Amino acid sequence: MSIPVPSATNLLRDTPTGLGVDVGGTGIKVGLVDLTQGELIGDRLVRSTPQPATPDAIAGAISEMVEEFDWAGPVGIALPSVIHEGVARIAHNIDKSWIGCDVGELFDRHLPGRPVLMLNDADAAGLTEVHYGAGEGVDGLVILLTFGTGIGSALLLNGKLLPNSEFGHLIVEDIAGRGFDEAEHLASAAVRARDGLSFAEWAPHVSNVLRSIEDLLWPRAFVLGGGVSEAADEWFPLLENRTPVRPAVRLNDAGIIGAALYAAGHSGVLDLSGALPDGGV
Ligand code: BGC
Repeated sequence: MSIPVPSATNLLRDTPTGLGVDVGGTGIKVGLVDLTQGELIGDRLVRSTPQPATPDAIAGAISEMVEEFDWAGPVGIALPSVIHEGVARIAHNIDKSWIGCDVGELFDRHLPGRPVLMLNDADAAGLTEVHYGAGEGVDGLVILLTFGTGIGSALLLNGKLLPNSEFGHLIVEDIAGRGFDEAEHLASAAVRARDGLSFAEWAPHVSNVLRSIEDLLWPRAFVLGGGVSEAADEWFPLLENRTPVRPAVRLNDAGIIGAALYAAGHSGVLDLSGALPDGGV
């Protein structure tokens, strides 16, 4: 079934447009993006992440999903991994066989004939928020954290991304007295769901992670994203941190939008030189 979206060619004439893919531990989301507004055009397409979530299984699913769109241009993909010069380096919520995977080679096979650019999922969300959302216009260091299957992080200094931070793996002391563990094992949205925690029970774990980060980096603001930020009113007031906290504006679509933005920057549709480190991620 084809998603009814206006033709990419027509859109390109009026509005810079891109296609973004966000790969998560549980779902893959694809959407066409209006890069002027930083908003999805039409509906996003969502599928369960194949299990095991190997490079070929995920790339195959992405290829099928991208075919559903009337889009022949570059594709941006946000992945929950460190991406160094086109190679995935870690794999916590995807199959371990991603480690060392050359993304260019993978997508030459699965999406031949078009540029495919990949970056870390939280970095994609960070690009979205500095361009269109909660981090826009904030001077100094802004740290975005996404709460989902894991905890993702993006460091943004005066609007420029410092890619591949991994604060979800910061070792912190569990406030419930169970020793030390990785931040995402104590305070992700998946942990909240798994343990059936109320916002009042979960928020102190988030505060504890934020405190560890703010003590080291003293950011001007935290931007918190992921689906849980839809309920920001319910749990942001419970956080006890000195750093101002803002909800992400694009929430669940920030990864898709940022991936599309990144691909557009590489293909010359937009000038992102102020937002990306020289030489890309
Ligand atoms: C991964 C990060 C990712 C985060 C959110 C972590 O487990 O290591 O790269 O950004 O999950 O998906």
